[in-house]
Amino acid sequence: MKKFYALTICCTALVLCYSFIGFRKQKSPLSFTGKPVNKEQLGEMLFFESKLSATKKISCASCHIPAHGFADTVAFSKGIHGYFGKRNAPSCTNLTDRPYLFYDGRATTIEDQVRFPIEDPNEMGIAIAEVVKRLTKDKEYNTLFNEIFHEPPTETNLKVAIAAFERTLETSHTPFDRYMSGDTLAISAAAERGRLLFMGTKAKCVECHFTPDFTGDEFRNIGLYDGVKYKDEGRAVISGNKADIGKFKVPGLRNVAVTAPYMHNGMFKTLKDVIEYYDDPYKVVPHPVNMDTVMSKPLHLTPQEKEDIEQFLRTLTDDRFMTKKKGTNH
Ligand code: HEC
Ligand code: HEC
Repeated sequence: MKKFYALTICCTALVLCYSFIGFRKQKSPLSFTGKPVNKEQLGEMLFFESKLSATKKISCASCHIPAHGFADTVAFSKGIHGYFGKRNAPSCTNLTDRPYLFYDGRATTIEDQVRFPIEDPNEMGIAIAEVVKRLTKDKEYNTLFNEIFHEPPTETNLKVAIAAFERTLETSHTPFDRYMSGDTLAISAAAERGRLLFMGTKAKCVECHFTPDFTGDEFRNIGLYDGVKYKDEGRAVISGNKADIGKFKVPGLRNVAVTAPYMHNGMFKTLKDVIEYYDDPYKVVPHPVNMDTVMSKPLHLTPQEKEDIEQFLRTLTDDRFMTKKKGTNH
């Protein structure tokens, strides 16, 4: 009888184990299989780890969705307990060269950035020291940190690992990059016209968005603050400088076709809406405060020109985020 029980338990354990492994294999969002062997892979595992939140339900990837250029698809993301934050979750791609992170630039390194969402009461809502304790108690993580960093989990190596993963998210396999390296057929004629408009003096996008990542890493005011309906002061919240009211970090535009909705408050659902806005900002926000002088006159783009600019923006999508519907190689 005892033998029979032992056998049944063994078999059940085997089946459970197998289905668990199978399940993990199938469901794993990770780009590697097996256990992480370097800080980038450990960082990737941590990026998808919901133990980094108070309720153990929210991970970085809950708001930074891989298929959407690591951005969120809603204007305001849900954190722990269904709480909403105050800004739109942007892409985590192409951050390596950024001197500022967040729309108001409150972090200056990718490592430093990591603590903000973890400790934000609306996002992951837990002290980072508490996360370190959790990881230390967790046998799997403790072993992995020791193998990779030769020390147990600490606040520093936790940040280093996640930042190392984020630095792998550089995206230059795009129709635009192929075009620039000589493949003239990589983008459509419409996209090429859009590129010239984007770079030129009629649409003036290049004043603020320039290569390689289509941002100058400056804080600029495109008119989305009026103190009445639009009340996020942006950079001024951090700098305390009145002249910064309504300025936001110019976002890079790589992968922008898959990161809707747009702007710090997610107010535009499509690239069309964004381009319409730039064409005549006053139609959307009649009384902006301190709007950049570059923006002060309507652009008077024709419908064809607007379409061309959109087609150009779509050529900035990396192959890994390209779907048939969204990709427009031709
Ligand atoms: C509940 C949703 C949520 C979670 C969870 C979350 N983020 Fe974010 N993330 C945001 C929002 C919203 C912003 C923009 C906030 C701002 O600019 O003030 C942001 C901004 C960022 C930025 C700045 C990007 C840029 O271009 O400036 C990075 C990097 C980032 N998050 C990485 C992470 C990492 C790493 C984690 C996990 C440790 C994480 N996020 C967890 C919502 C989230
Ligand atoms: C004066 C500087 C400036 C000019 C000119 C400018 N932009 Fe922007 N752009 C910004 C800033 C700043 C933001 C972020 C504003 C915010 O979030 O409130 C932004 C945001 C965007 C976004 C949204 C990105 C995202 O991830 O949410 C797109 C798309 C965009 N710009 C495209 C363009 C195009 C196309 C043009 C030309 C027609 C243009 N921009 C001209 C400064 C500028």
